[in-house]
Amino acid sequence: RTIFLLNGPNLNLLGQREPEIYGRETLADLEARARARATTHGLRLEFRQTNSEGELVSWIHEARTDGAALILNAAGYTHTSVAVLDALKTLEIPVIELHLSNPHRREAFRHHSYVSLAATAVIAGLGPLGYELSVDAAAGLIAARA
Ligand code: DQA
Repeated sequence: RTIFLLNGPNLNLLGQREPEIYGRETLADLEARARARATTHGLRLEFRQTNSEGELVSWIHEARTDGAALILNAAGYTHTSVAVLDALKTLEIPVIELHLSNPHRREAFRHHSYVSLAATAVIAGLGPLGYELSVDAAAGLIAARA
């Protein structure tokens, strides 16, 4: 079974982008952490990043048919995208909303999440550890449904 872990815009620049908020690890580092946890649970991991809203929507559709769970760090689209929300609403699998930072201690415009309206759970503020814990959580939710 496959967990989709999808990353939205600007996360390709992790490590260089606002390191005081997002830390020094790159997206490849986070992928390695997530992959190690998926292997432990005997699950496949589709780990992807896009800067395009439309591509993200298409990947969510792919998770709908091919995924056992979806972990989504929609980055800036979290706070703007009705299209991402509408795509998430078509899913019947667990959805975990993921953020490196804690959006609630940041600017007011980050306090609203369209993703949360369709998320089973939210993991935020734990930095790179969140990429590991979200895979553990998805594995637990998959096992609970089996
Ligand atoms: C983020 C938080 C969002 O508010 C922001 O737009 C991001 C990254 C995070 O992982 O902390 O790009 O999703």
